[in-house]
Amino acid sequence: MNNMYNEIVMDHFMNPRNVGEIENADGIGMYGSPVCGDMTSVYIKVDNDRITDAKFKTFGCGSAIASSSIATELMKGKTIDEVLAITTKQIVSELGGLPDAKVHCSVLARHAIKSAIYDYAQKTGKTYAGLAGFNPDADEDDDE
Ligand code: FES
Repeated sequence: MNNMYNEIVMDHFMNPRNVGEIENADGIGMYGSPVCGDMTSVYIKVDNDRITDAKFKTFGCGSAIASSSIATELMKGKTIDEVLAITTKQIVSELGGLPDAKVHCSVLARHAIKSAIYDYAQKTGKTYAGLAGFNPDADEDDDE
Protein backbone atom coordinates (compact mmCIF):
# COMPACT_ATOMS: atom_id res chain seq x y z
CA MET A 1 0.00 0.00 0.00
CA ASN A 2 1.30 3.36 -1.05
CA ASN A 3 0.94 5.95 1.71
CA MET A 4 3.73 8.40 0.90
CA TYR A 5 3.86 11.60 -1.11
CA ASN A 6 6.68 11.60 -3.62
CA GLU A 7 8.82 14.56 -4.67
CA ILE A 8 6.77 15.41 -7.75
CA VAL A 9 3.58 15.62 -5.71
CA MET A 10 5.33 17.71 -3.06
CA ASP A 11 6.72 20.05 -5.73
CA HIS A 12 3.31 20.60 -7.32
CA PHE A 13 1.76 21.08 -3.89
CA MET A 14 4.39 23.55 -2.67
CA ASN A 15 4.75 25.36 -6.02
CA PRO A 16 1.52 24.76 -7.88
CA ARG A 17 1.49 25.83 -11.54
CA ASN A 18 -1.36 27.78 -13.10
CA VAL A 19 -3.05 28.95 -9.91
CA GLY A 20 -5.62 31.70 -10.35
CA GLU A 21 -8.47 32.76 -12.58
CA ILE A 22 -8.60 33.73 -16.23
CA GLU A 23 -10.49 36.92 -16.99
CA ASN A 24 -12.94 36.39 -19.83
CA ALA A 25 -12.39 32.64 -19.71
CA ASP A 26 -13.96 30.70 -22.56
CA GLY A 27 -15.05 27.99 -20.15
CA ILE A 28 -15.30 27.62 -16.38
CA GLY A 29 -15.85 24.39 -14.49
CA MET A 30 -16.36 23.79 -10.81
CA TYR A 31 -16.60 20.51 -8.97
CA GLY A 32 -16.92 19.48 -5.36
CA SER A 33 -15.75 16.00 -4.43
CA PRO A 34 -18.51 13.81 -3.01
CA VAL A 35 -15.80 11.95 -1.09
CA CYS A 36 -14.46 14.86 0.94
CA GLY A 37 -16.21 18.12 -0.04
CA ASP A 38 -13.07 19.72 -1.45
CA MET A 39 -13.62 21.98 -4.46
CA THR A 40 -11.77 22.93 -7.62
CA SER A 41 -12.53 25.57 -10.25
CA VAL A 42 -10.89 25.43 -13.67
CA TYR A 43 -10.71 28.25 -16.21
CA ILE A 44 -9.79 27.71 -19.85
CA LYS A 45 -8.99 29.77 -22.91
CA VAL A 46 -9.64 28.08 -26.24
CA ASP A 47 -8.46 28.96 -29.72
CA ASN A 48 -9.35 26.84 -32.71
CA ASP A 49 -10.31 23.88 -30.49
CA ARG A 50 -6.98 24.03 -28.68
CA ILE A 51 -6.47 24.92 -25.00
CA THR A 52 -4.24 27.99 -25.03
CA ASP A 53 -4.37 28.65 -21.29
CA ALA A 54 -5.66 26.95 -18.16
CA LYS A 55 -5.78 28.03 -14.55
CA PHE A 56 -7.31 26.59 -11.41
CA LYS A 57 -8.25 27.38 -7.85
CA THR A 58 -8.52 24.51 -5.41
CA PHE A 59 -10.04 24.70 -1.98
CA GLY A 60 -8.80 21.33 -0.94
CA CYS A 61 -6.09 18.94 0.00
CA GLY A 62 -2.50 18.81 -1.25
CA SER A 63 -3.20 15.95 -3.63
CA ALA A 64 -6.03 17.90 -5.24
CA ILE A 65 -3.75 20.92 -5.63
CA ALA A 66 -0.95 18.78 -7.11
CA SER A 67 -3.40 16.98 -9.43
CA SER A 68 -4.89 20.26 -10.66
CA SER A 69 -1.41 21.73 -11.12
CA ILE A 70 -0.08 18.89 -13.24
CA ALA A 71 -3.34 18.43 -15.14
CA THR A 72 -3.44 22.10 -16.18
CA GLU A 73 0.19 21.77 -17.29
CA LEU A 74 -0.72 18.67 -19.30
CA MET A 75 -3.67 20.27 -21.05
CA LYS A 76 -2.07 23.50 -22.23
CA GLY A 77 -1.47 23.41 -25.98
CA LYS A 78 -3.52 20.24 -26.44
CA THR A 79 -6.70 19.97 -28.48
CA ILE A 80 -9.96 19.64 -26.61
CA ASP A 81 -10.31 16.05 -27.80
CA GLU A 82 -6.84 15.25 -26.44
CA VAL A 83 -7.65 16.87 -23.09
CA LEU A 84 -10.93 14.99 -22.79
CA ALA A 85 -8.96 11.77 -23.25
CA ILE A 86 -6.75 12.48 -20.21
CA THR A 87 -7.60 9.92 -17.54
CA THR A 88 -7.19 10.06 -13.81
CA LYS A 89 -4.69 7.22 -14.17
CA GLN A 90 -2.62 9.48 -16.40
CA ILE A 91 -2.78 12.36 -13.91
CA VAL A 92 -1.71 10.06 -11.09
CA SER A 93 1.02 8.55 -13.23
CA GLU A 94 2.37 12.01 -14.20
CA LEU A 95 2.55 12.74 -10.49
CA GLY A 96 4.58 9.59 -10.00
CA GLY A 97 1.74 8.06 -8.01
CA LEU A 98 -0.54 9.13 -5.17
CA PRO A 99 -1.29 7.38 -1.90
CA ASP A 100 -4.17 4.96 -2.47
CA ALA A 101 -6.58 6.94 -0.33
CA LYS A 102 -5.86 10.05 -2.39
CA VAL A 103 -6.61 8.82 -5.89
CA HIS A 104 -10.07 10.41 -5.72
CA CYS A 105 -8.33 13.80 -5.53
CA SER A 106 -7.26 13.39 -9.15
CA VAL A 107 -10.91 12.79 -10.04
CA LEU A 108 -11.70 16.22 -8.63
CA ALA A 109 -9.21 17.82 -11.04
CA ARG A 110 -10.33 15.82 -14.03
CA HIS A 111 -14.04 16.43 -13.44
CA ALA A 112 -13.50 20.19 -13.06
CA ILE A 113 -11.51 20.22 -16.33
CA LYS A 114 -14.24 18.34 -18.16
CA SER A 115 -16.80 20.71 -16.66
CA ALA A 116 -14.88 23.72 -18.01
CA ILE A 117 -14.86 22.15 -21.48
CA TYR A 118 -18.56 21.32 -21.09
CA ASP A 119 -19.20 24.99 -20.27
CA TYR A 120 -17.26 26.02 -23.38
CA ALA A 121 -19.22 23.55 -25.50
CA GLN A 122 -22.52 24.86 -24.13
CA LYS A 123 -21.56 28.47 -24.89
CA THR A 124 -20.36 27.74 -28.41
CA GLY A 125 -22.82 25.03 -29.40
CA LYS A 126 -19.97 22.62 -30.15
CA THR A 127 -20.05 18.90 -29.47
CA TYR A 128 -17.17 16.62 -28.50
CA ALA A 129 -17.23 12.84 -28.46
CA GLY A 130 -15.34 12.84 -25.16
CA LEU A 131 -18.21 14.69 -23.49
CA ALA A 132 -20.82 12.10 -24.48
CA GLY A 133 -22.90 11.28 -21.42
CA PHE A 134 -20.97 13.75 -19.27
CA ASN A 135 -22.98 15.56 -16.63
CA PRO A 136 -21.05 18.27 -14.76
CA ASP A 137 -23.39 17.90 -11.79
CA ALA A 138 -23.03 14.14 -11.51
CA ASP A 139 -20.42 12.45 -9.39
CA GLU A 140 -17.69 10.48 -11.03
CA ASP A 141 -15.92 7.21 -10.29
CA ASP A 142 -12.19 7.23 -9.76
CA ASP A 143 -11.41 4.12 -11.75
CA GLU A 144 -10.77 5.71 -15.15
FE1 FES B 1 -10.44 16.00 -0.91
FE2 FES B 1 -8.13 15.26 -1.74
S1 FES B 1 -9.03 14.82 0.18
S2 FES B 1 -9.66 16.23 -2.89
